[in-house]
Amino acid sequence: MSTFSAPKGTYDLLPPDSATFLAVREAIAAPLRRSGYGYVETPGFEHVELFSRGVGQSTDIVTKEMYTLTTKGGTDLALRPEGTASVLRAALQANLHRAGNLPVKLWYSGTYYRYERPQAGRYRHFSQVGAEAIGAEDPALDAELVILAADAYRALGLSGVRLLLNSLGDRECRPAYRAALQDFLRGLDLDEETRARIEINPLRVLDDKRPDVQRQLDGAPLLVDHLCESCKEYHERVRELLTAAGVAFTDDPRLVRGLDYYTRTTFEFVHDGLGSQSAVGGGGRYDGLSELIGGPPLPSVGWALGVDRTVLALRAEGVELPVPAGTDVFAVPLGEEARRTLFGVVTELRRAGVAADFAYGGRSAKASMKAANRSGARFAVVAGERDLAEGVVQVKDLDSGEQAPVALDGLAAELAARLSGGAADA
Ligand code: HAM
Repeated sequence: MSTFSAPKGTYDLLPPDSATFLAVREAIAAPLRRSGYGYVETPGFEHVELFSRGVGQSTDIVTKEMYTLTTKGGTDLALRPEGTASVLRAALQANLHRAGNLPVKLWYSGTYYRYERPQAGRYRHFSQVGAEAIGAEDPALDAELVILAADAYRALGLSGVRLLLNSLGDRECRPAYRAALQDFLRGLDLDEETRARIEINPLRVLDDKRPDVQRQLDGAPLLVDHLCESCKEYHERVRELLTAAGVAFTDDPRLVRGLDYYTRTTFEFVHDGLGSQSAVGGGGRYDGLSELIGGPPLPSVGWALGVDRTVLALRAEGVELPVPAGTDVFAVPLGEEARRTLFGVVTELRRAGVAADFAYGGRSAKASMKAANRSGARFAVVAGERDLAEGVVQVKDLDSGEQAPVALDGLAAELAARLSGGAADA
């Protein structure tokens, strides 16, 4: 123990668990790379206003959960609570949308910060892999993204992820619905904070988890019944494309997302093995966000999947990802001369692409063999003075326990061949 521990709501990623995290990130990114998405990386902090305007003044994320700071120069910054506003800002700043190739398709992987009440699956520092398709209005694009996320979960071996789907309408039909919902909500028996929310962000009230609120919401007007013709048709096309692709979904007319920029298609992936923090990923269309942050009209759609919660979902389902062995060959020198020779062998192996490690620290033969076993290596290379005098090393198969001398000359090639399944050419 040191004097310090990681701050509340954060945790360290350490081996061996960290390998699962990398594998999850990779599994989510792989389908995106195959689908025309290019990698984007943006700063960990941005101007506060990007998020207050973009994510929305009435959201919990902006009002309660942002880590903000004022620099010595007087600039107000916020640690990024999400990726969409930043990615769109970056695309606009670099004029990617003017290059004439819309949509601009980008993917990202990073850590995000929200000052939330920590609990299982909810952290103040967490990881997302996300994708944004900027500058096109096409139901096939919405469907593409949903399919890529569903395929990523499937590739990971998860079977308990459910997709909830909704449409939040557009600037045409949402205002009338909002007014109808406000009328309904004003007639309910609600606490002061919730009453205030009716005036600022009535849709969020639908998302209130408290049973006494939920009970009163039976009979609340639903946006599905107020969608304009074009939103209705758009949503129907998305649903058809998902069905044709074999992606199962549940229509959830009460699905409201925690960010204000959404229009039309919205969705969430949930996993029932995670307790209250069941959302493993979410996203939707954000046709008005570009204008909100000072850009031209650029209808867009995207999602972000939570890496931490996806790892928890794997654990809940008992799925072990095949993670590549860190070490294939472990060298155990017996004596000084062997130490020099085997260190050279390890370097050569690594240069030949074989994962190799070495018994450092001059420990006993017994302790070194223990380290070899613990490393997960397939072979131990053991050598003492007598072996070297004969120009050989002992190669021990750590699975079978079999051991036999192998010529030092050409050892790296021989081991590489054994590891890839064949024997080296004589
Ligand atoms: P979000 O729903 O706020 O959406 O976050 C996406 C995912 O990040 C969640 O489903 C969850 O798995 C994970 N997540 C969020 N907060 C936490 C937390 N405190 N601890 C652990 N995991 C968390 C967005 O962030 C949007 N930018 C998604 C998007 C992209 N919409 C359009 N494009």
